[in-house]
Formats: sequence, structure tokens, C-alpha cells
Amino acid sequence: MKTPIIKSNILTRKYNNEIYLKLEYIHPTGSHKDRETNQIIKDVISKKINKVGCASTGNAAISLAYHSFIYNLECNLWLTENIGKEKLALIKKFRPKIDFTNGDYSDAIKISNDYMKKNKIYNANPGQGDIRNNGDKEIGIEIANSINPNYIIAPVNNGTLFFGVWKGLNEKGLNPKMIGATSKKGKVASSIEGLHLHDKIKLDKIEDYELIDLNDKEIIHSFTELMKLGFFVEPASASTLEALKKLGIKNKSVCLILTASEIRFCDKMDFLQN
Ligand SMILES: Cc1ncc(COP(=O)(O)O)c(C=O)c1O
Repeated sequence: MKTPIIKSNILTRKYNNEIYLKLEYIHPTGSHKDRETNQIIKDVISKKINKVGCASTGNAAISLAYHSFIYNLECNLWLTENIGKEKLALIKKFRPKIDFTNGDYSDAIKISNDYMKKNKIYNANPGQGDIRNNGDKEIGIEIANSINPNYIIAPVNNGTLFFGVWKGLNEKGLNPKMIGATSKKGKVASSIEGLHLHDKIKLDKIEDYELIDLNDKEIIHSFTELMKLGFFVEPASASTLEALKKLGIKNKSVCLILTASEIRFCDKMDFLQN
């Protein structure tokens, strides 16, 4: 599904840069993961496989479970114990098989890779070819069709989204500086720990990129700012605005990738500030 790209006049004035927002949180399950899942489902169906699986910090699981439900596929998920309870409740609505890993996300990836290989399940984990990147590539193409930004800022965990967006831009002849936002030690944005980078090998193809690490306090500040402007995205995604502030640039054209709707999950919004 194509998503809108809009210019925020308020953010443009406030931060002395032309600020564009790519609204990736309006997909059916609320994040850009639906673009990746669409590619996965097409491949699964063309290969006549009926079992699919992945490890996830949450949004990829929601998307895969939802699409598997629609297409009548068996969905296998490997989740970590720290997944938010509302995310889990939503995932469970689509009745996937769930395995909770004792360790962290990287352990979940390893365990699931082994299991899926042995049990002939289509492996939809990041780092397995270009399928996921090809979904995210569309974001870059759509951006290039409307603007020519100097900077793109995206949240990063595996780097799949980050690389995919760049790939699309690059195909269209654009080469903006790519900024990745991570939160290695934070608690409010666990889906961008940026420690795993299971797609890292591809990042070396990007000519000019930089990763900026942010803490919870900074991310919550930007989350609140975006929320008040009507952009209700997960803290993981609001990190892109915080990364912009850290960059200290002026008079540039910047596009923030806003993914993952927060309106799906209100329990953990106790951190809301006035
Ligand atoms: C909200 C959000 N932003 C960004 C990412 C990072 O995606 P990637 O693993 O492609 O770097 C994720 C991954 O789960 C996510 O949920």
C-alpha cells in the first residue's frame, strides 16, 4: 500500500530544515512490516508452502500473524519474554504458534532458524535474502517520486528497513545521507536496540550513513512532540525526530520515516508528558 508523504510546516519552522514525514504507520497492522510481509506472502504462495515463521520484537509478528490468518497459513513466531502485553494480546488474536525464547532477540533468531530448517517452515527472518528489503524498497521509491531529500532518518534494529529504503532511493538515482536511530540501552523503544543488525552486511553498500543512539528521556520527548502534532507513533519511531535534533543541521531537506502506530497500545503510555 502506498503511504502519504507530508511536509510539516510546524517542524520545518522549529528545526530550520524542511521536514517531511513518511507515514508508514497507516498500514493495516500499523507498521511498515506489512510491506515486508506482503513480499513474504507472495513468495510463500508461489512456492506452495503453507507454513511460515519468524522471530520478532513485535511488529513483524503482528504483521505475519495477521497475513497468515488471512491467507490460511500456519504462522510460527519466536518472541522474547519482554514483549509488551498489548502487542502479545494483538498477535494472539490471529492464533499463531508462539515460542517464548529465554534469551534475547538474537537467540530467538538462532533458535527459530534451526527449527524452521528442520521442520520445513518458510523462514521469514531478517538476514535471509532480499525479500524483506524489497518490501521496504517501495518506501524509497515513493519518497523519490515526490521529493529529493538531503537526509533520510529511519529507526534501526536489523537494518532491514534502513537498507530497503536506501535501495529504493538509489534505484531512482538519489543518494541522500542515511541516518539510523537506535536505542541500545533504553526501555521504551526495545524494537530499535540496534544491537542485532542481522542485515548489517548490506549496510556497507550505503555510501553515506550514520547511526545515532538515543536514550529513553530523549525519545519520550520527541514521542510527546509528535503525538501533540497528531503523529501517534511508537517511541521507537519517534526516535527519528530526536536523531534530527542531534544532527545539528540547517536549511536541509529531511525525511523522517514514521512507522508503528502507538494508538494500538495504550497501557504503556503512562510515560506521557504534559
Ligand atoms: C517500530 C519499528 N521501527 C523500526 C524497526 C527496525 O526495523 P529493522 O529490523 O528493519 O531495522 C522495527 C523492527 O521491529 C520496528 O518495530
